[in-house]
Amino acid sequence: MAFSPQFLDEIKHRTSLAEVVGKRVKLVKKGHEYSGLCPFHNEKTPSFTLNEDKGFYHCFGCQSHGSAIDFVMETEGLGFREAVEKLAFEAGMEIPDETPEQRERERKKQTLYDVTEAAAAYFEKMLYMPEGQAALDYLTSRGIDRATLKTYRVGFSPESRSALKTALLRESIAEEQMISAGLIIKPTEDRGRGMDSYDRFRGRVMFPISDRRGRVIAFGGQILGAGEPKYLNSPETPLFHKGSELYGLHIAGPASRKSDTILVTEGYMDVIALYKAGFPHAVAPLGTAMTEDQIRLLWKIVPEPVLCFDGDRAGQAAAGKTALRALPLLKPGIGIRFATLPASEDPDSLIKNKGADAMAAVIEAAIPLSETLWRMETHGKLPTTPEARAALQQRLSDHARAIQDATVRSHFSKAFNERIAPVSRSAGPGGQNRWQPGGGKGWNRGGGWASNLQMETAAGPAARVNMGKRREEILIAVLINHPALYDDVSESLGTIAFSLPELDKIRQEILKTLAAKSGLETEHLINHLNSCGYSAVLRSLLGAGVYDHAYFARPQASLEEAGAGWMETFDQIRGKDLIAEIEEAERDVAENPSEETWRRLLALKQQKMNETMDEQA
Ligand code: UTP
Ligand code: MN
Repeated sequence: MAFSPQFLDEIKHRTSLAEVVGKRVKLVKKGHEYSGLCPFHNEKTPSFTLNEDKGFYHCFGCQSHGSAIDFVMETEGLGFREAVEKLAFEAGMEIPDETPEQRERERKKQTLYDVTEAAAAYFEKMLYMPEGQAALDYLTSRGIDRATLKTYRVGFSPESRSALKTALLRESIAEEQMISAGLIIKPTEDRGRGMDSYDRFRGRVMFPISDRRGRVIAFGGQILGAGEPKYLNSPETPLFHKGSELYGLHIAGPASRKSDTILVTEGYMDVIALYKAGFPHAVAPLGTAMTEDQIRLLWKIVPEPVLCFDGDRAGQAAAGKTALRALPLLKPGIGIRFATLPASEDPDSLIKNKGADAMAAVIEAAIPLSETLWRMETHGKLPTTPEARAALQQRLSDHARAIQDATVRSHFSKAFNERIAPVSRSAGPGGQNRWQPGGGKGWNRGGGWASNLQMETAAGPAARVNMGKRREEILIAVLINHPALYDDVSESLGTIAFSLPELDKIRQEILKTLAAKSGLETEHLINHLNSCGYSAVLRSLLGAGVYDHAYFARPQASLEEAGAGWMETFDQIRGKDLIAEIEEAERDVAENPSEETWRRLLALKQQKMNETMDEQA
């Protein structure tokens, strides 16, 4: 009767708790947690919280507590088995029958992990043997050091029909198992009948592909020197479904949660080069375009993954395709950003040629999904005839209609429409900031527009570190472009701690200057700041990076929009402080679970919920 732990694990992995609970409870997201009114007891202020990462909900009011399965059982009056079946169905999973064959299959799957593990260990060992010397030299010549090779367990498959097979037979692994694991090939009836089975991977640099728990499930093998195919991957096996896995995820996962960003690149070598250059949070799909499964998997880790694509035509086409695939799946608070590499570079070559900073700049300049669609449809310029504009509007609204979530959909269509036919802005959409020193930056030049939506997405827990800095920049940029806000915002602006000294300094200078001279105009303020040596800071403050996140920071925004956006951003910065305090209080409770620490945590959580409710009102 019992479900296997693997099966229950898989359900948990494929189910979004927030989505399940969200059908019955209006949830508000703060950081990695959600809160709302508890469905299990009557209440007016929310004490029900949910943590998507941990897969648990908890009510501080009535102490109800559990997983997605518990939630479905409780709210729908179902038994355990029925609840599991319901969630499995919704996740598109097959319910395991309890037939002996099926149990046997599960058991075999378990031992298959042992087979792939043994193969990984063998390949890795061979890289450091005389046979592997050429492969090791090749990897070294590409700048990969030993430690990184070990981290990804890179190996080598000798140029031999049966090296792996012989080695594994010696470990009492059955030939059948090696075939199931995709490691050796049995000649088929009509072709090569009667011939012995032989190693699939021969003379290749071997990249083991692991699942999220770090268990090896398959391999990618790169040919040494010229030859076809350049990469050979394991076939689909009971362990390996290439559309649901991401190369490097077991290493990137923890790093991504810490930095709140995950990078998706094209190749194995890119992932490894990124790791080596200080970007441990990179993954790659396995030789195919991104699938829906892979996009969902990314969203389980961070709300806004960053996808890196080549600047060439093929890369941009792939970006467009991924954007279209992600559209129907969008939900409030989640999105994708697209980073564009300079033409004919991949992350590996860019890092080698221009350094890690150039890579960081590419990531920093990543644009939201909506902007990607816009550029795909307009190629950067608005058509001039009404006919062509109508066609453009049609195409964009088709894209918006593909979004299933009503809230996100309405924001997309509104933003697209406003951009095609701007209503009351003084300059047209995409118009250049008259005072913008030096134009946009890097490869993001010509960006410039952002919808309300992006501000909202960006306001999620995405990239806590980067977003903090970005919000500070926004506060300053708004004030520079709208100095008339000085009276309203100066006091608040003085109260927050800025993360970077140069931002702090320019803030002080602006406040001082505006205090001394009321009615000063943007142009004069910028001239003054330039003369004080702030031109580099200004370039990034008044550039696409900031404007893409906050349309209201642009000079064309109305004073009213600018003021409202400023306040919202300010509240977000303060809200972040509260989250940091809560995290600290949680640590205190864990270390020293006393009445006092517990009360402090509850009080902070209550405060956070009150603020959330205020925002909602
Ligand atoms: P690349 O050719 O860019 O490979 O293919 P790479 O990993 O960057 O290796 P180097 O730098 O050229 O040595 C990108 C990805 O496409 C898949 C692999 O997943 C590869 O990592 N691919 C490529 C295949 O699956 N088969 C192929 O024949 C080629
Ligand atoms: Mn490459």
